[in-house]
Amino acid sequence: MTKPMVSYKNVRKSFGEIEVLKEVNLEISEGEKVALIGPSGSGKTTLIRMLMTLEQPTSGVIEVDGTPLWHMEVNKRLVPANEKHLRNVRQNIGMVFQHFNLFPHMTVLENCTVAPIHVLGLSKKEAKERAVEMLEKVKLGDKLDIYPSQLSGGQKQRVAMARALVMRPKVMLFDEVTSALDPELVGEVLEVIRELAHEGKMTMILVTHEMEFARDVADRIVFLDNGYIVEEGPPEQIFEYSSNERLKRFLSRFRLNSVYPLTTRSV
Ligand SMILES: Nc1ncnc2c1ncn2[C@@H]1O[C@H](COP(=O)(O)OP(=O)(O)O)[C@@H](O)[C@H]1O
Ligand SMILES: [Mg+2]
Repeated sequence: MTKPMVSYKNVRKSFGEIEVLKEVNLEISEGEKVALIGPSGSGKTTLIRMLMTLEQPTSGVIEVDGTPLWHMEVNKRLVPANEKHLRNVRQNIGMVFQHFNLFPHMTVLENCTVAPIHVLGLSKKEAKERAVEMLEKVKLGDKLDIYPSQLSGGQKQRVAMARALVMRPKVMLFDEVTSALDPELVGEVLEVIRELAHEGKMTMILVTHEMEFARDVADRIVFLDNGYIVEEGPPEQIFEYSSNERLKRFLSRFRLNSVYPLTTRSV
């Protein structure tokens, strides 16, 4: 059994009166790839934004590599984390969003070196070496000196991925990274994620509506509905054998409009 890299323990999240996550318990092993699926509004983004420290849980504990994220231990008691603690633990996490949010006035290379220089304190030379390595990994080694406006959506998203990877996070979060792309650009982005997943080392949580892709790269599928984890298991169980009605209803919508058609195997 590998050690948990991420764990959610009795995590709840409300916005005002509305509870959008209800008692979430989830443990993700080091190196595990988890695909988070579920209807719009079910709480997927909120679940991973709490891990990126962009939202604070209302209650419960989230741990990253054995360290509480939103809490710290003082005299053997958990107290709310201070900014320094959050910053330290957050360094383990990288996130790619639906909208790439690149800095428009910086080149591709500069987009990928700014955080290593200013957050990690690397020299310009070290930051550049790392950035070039990651940009080559996402197949943009020939685009270092151009500006985001000159890139396609798929290329922008791959820059966003390289920018997250240069920080060498232990956990990478992908939130519907292909939903804003033109259909013909989806494949190249999924391919880069697939290669990253197959390298094996990195723990990955992917929110996606690409079911065939999820089935291919994920070790485990987690189905979230209405703020609850309704079902989780290996892809085969989720896609072929589940008898859960809500899950079956959700999956039935994907038969026709997946980028990777589901025709080769039945759902
Ligand atoms: N900042 C916010 N303020 C108020 N409600 C929010 C906020 N963020 C998300 N929500 C609500 O929380 C629920 C879950 O949202 P979200 O996590 O984005 O779901 P998903 O990513 O599965 O579509 C939705 O009902 C959404 O409207
Ligand atoms: Mg979302």
